[in-house]
Amino acid sequence: MKAELGRTDAPQPEELRIAPMLVSDIPEVTRIEQLSFSTVWPPNAFHNEIKDNKLAHYFVGRIGARVVAYGGLWVILEDSHVTTIAVHPEMRGLHLGERMLGHLIDEAIARDASWITLEVRESNRGAQSLYTKYGFTVVSTRRGYYSDNNENALVMWAGNLKGEIYRNRLRALKEALSAR
Ligand SMILES: CC(C)(COP(=O)(O)OP(=O)(O)OC[C@H]1O[C@@H](n2cnc3c(N)ncnc32)[C@H](O)[C@@H]1OP(=O)(O)O)[C@@H](O)C(=O)NCCC(=O)NCCS
Repeated sequence: MKAELGRTDAPQPEELRIAPMLVSDIPEVTRIEQLSFSTVWPPNAFHNEIKDNKLAHYFVGRIGARVVAYGGLWVILEDSHVTTIAVHPEMRGLHLGERMLGHLIDEAIARDASWITLEVRESNRGAQSLYTKYGFTVVSTRRGYYSDNNENALVMWAGNLKGEIYRNRLRALKEALSAR
């Protein structure tokens, strides 16, 4: 595992402790943001989201004291929108992104949302696979949505979050994660 964490074994997904993002987390979040995206949110964007936006719910995932993942959600009545999600590059492929996405979906359901949507770059197959695993499907394309390279965004959506079929799917995915 990563020398920075001072460990020799890979962390298990359940070691990720997810908690609301604090202002004091923003420097670590911004570092992961810079390592993860070609167009980055400045620190004040996270600050505004967590301090001023009543519709916004942002979380960090820590292993020990270190922030290794974050994610954000807006909930507007029955609709919810994943605004961002990222895992530190050194920590990818360990099912931490999956834990964070599951947490965002749980939060959306707890806040009474029935639908969840997001945009993802057409080239970002890894993220698309994660979303597909959690029941998202592509519903439309936003042409030239990303201004840095004019790339298209796929709009993905999952519905009926509170229905039995989706809840069972979520439960099965969580059980599979715990059993790893
Ligand atoms: C997308 C991201 C959050 C995924 O986090 P992660 O911790 O690396 O992914 P996980 O280990 O939780 O993967 C869970 C599932 O997602 C899919 N997946 C994730 N990364 C993948 C990849 N590179 N290729 C194919 N499938 C991938 C798989 O279905 C995987 O499940 P499996 O291992 O059982 O097949 C992470 O890669 C990231 O931070 N990327 C940069 C930022 C970004 O693109 N965010 C999304 C913006 S829309």
